Amino acid sequence: MSSNQLDKKSEAWSALFSEPMSELVQRYTASVFFDQRLAGADIAGSLAHAEMLAAQGIISPQDYAAIERGMTQIRAEIASGAFEWKLALEDVHLNIEARLTQLAGDAGKRLHTGRSRNDQVATDIRLWLRGEIDLLTALLRELQAALVDVAERHIDVIMPGFTHLQVAQPVSFAHHLLAYVEMFARDEERLQDARRRVNQLPLGSAALAGTTYPLDRERVARALGMEGVCQNSLDAVSDRDFAIEFTAAATLAMVHISRLSEELILWMSQNFAFIRIADRFTTGSSIMPQKKNPDVPELARGKTGRVVGALVGLVTLMKGQPLAYNKDNQEDKEPLFDTVDTLRDTLRIFIEMIGGQINPATGAKEGGIGVNPQAMEQAAQKGYATATDLADYLVKKGLPFRDAHETVARAVKAASTHGCDLSELPLKTLREFHPAIDDDVYAVLSLRGSLNARNTLGGAAPAQVQNQIKRHRARLAA
Ligand code: ARG
Repeated sequence: MSSNQLDKKSEAWSALFSEPMSELVQRYTASVFFDQRLAGADIAGSLAHAEMLAAQGIISPQDYAAIERGMTQIRAEIASGAFEWKLALEDVHLNIEARLTQLAGDAGKRLHTGRSRNDQVATDIRLWLRGEIDLLTALLRELQAALVDVAERHIDVIMPGFTHLQVAQPVSFAHHLLAYVEMFARDEERLQDARRRVNQLPLGSAALAGTTYPLDRERVARALGMEGVCQNSLDAVSDRDFAIEFTAAATLAMVHISRLSEELILWMSQNFAFIRIADRFTTGSSIMPQKKNPDVPELARGKTGRVVGALVGLVTLMKGQPLAYNKDNQEDKEPLFDTVDTLRDTLRIFIEMIGGQINPATGAKEGGIGVNPQAMEQAAQKGYATATDLADYLVKKGLPFRDAHETVARAVKAASTHGCDLSELPLKTLREFHPAIDDDVYAVLSLRGSLNARNTLGGAAPAQVQNQIKRHRARLAA
């Protein structure tokens, strides 16, 4: 190397090469225009490595001080946008190292002692992903809290519960929303579980086999707040299962959001008219003046596809790779970054769309989901949602369930010919289906009676829903 300056990556390795890379190959192999988002993690990892090298007497304290000074300046340059990213330097690692060598001279050149870009990049992704997991976990909790808030205000709002999208039995709107809280709680758990395996240190594995320098890997792990060190150097530099696992967890979160999106879209259609979402989450039509389209939930439903794509991409990337590091792995970044961005933005927007936003003037939350309890209750009324209750009533009077089922089916048929609900049939008519039916049947046939009766743990009865809200509140406050 002629000077302290590295301008091309070919200068980062030996004079072995007899011809320069073509422009096209340079662009094809470079990752700097997307992996520069790892810069913060790259610098943190380098500083922890350098500190350990100094503590072990592998570099001098002066070299470490020069590296620290250089990195502080580089951080500032990146933050201000002054840092000049060079395609010819391929990736974030070589770009930062080259700049460090400009600033710190030989000390900069000593940073890479006992290290390879293979353990370096694996460390960077893990550090970066750990931070993103923490952010996404907080957002998932905020979304759960927003759903619990809305649920708490609608414990007594009856809506039809569906199976096959046919009216099945009455539930409360709160119970329905809490189903999503359960899903997002599991998503949160999955992220936290994946975090333990993300938070392990590859550094010290060097290119693939470890290194000849007396490194203290535990010290680096502690400095970086990692839970442990990867125990096999070949595995540490090559596997990206932690990224796949994270993306799988993110995919499930997006799948849950897509289910919620689908329901929001249905519920706000004129045919349901169960809810309203604030105008700022909808768009009009360029031709039909009456339209308010639910663009945000539709896009969220659509974006789920790209996250599924990222997962499939990552799994396919890993499949069949021989040990240890292969350049294939550079392709892990874009799908991973895109997954994080998509989930983060989707969660942020859903938190606001469901829960609303604090109005700074009043301190109150405004603009969340609006609910139309009449439309929900009417829809439940229309679909013979209490037919099972009538069957259960007859069972309690001694009929075998199958016979009761048959009897009620006949009653429903009659009611639908009359165009009315079961509860609107006179007692005389009901008794024609079975003489065991008495006056007390009407309590059973009411939506509210039906709802209150489903008082098993996890059931739709308001008493159960209250308990669940309490449990979620305690969990989310912790
Ligand atoms: N940019 C590379 C990546 O993302 C860094 C590791 C390169 N290592 C190598 N041996 N070429 O994977």
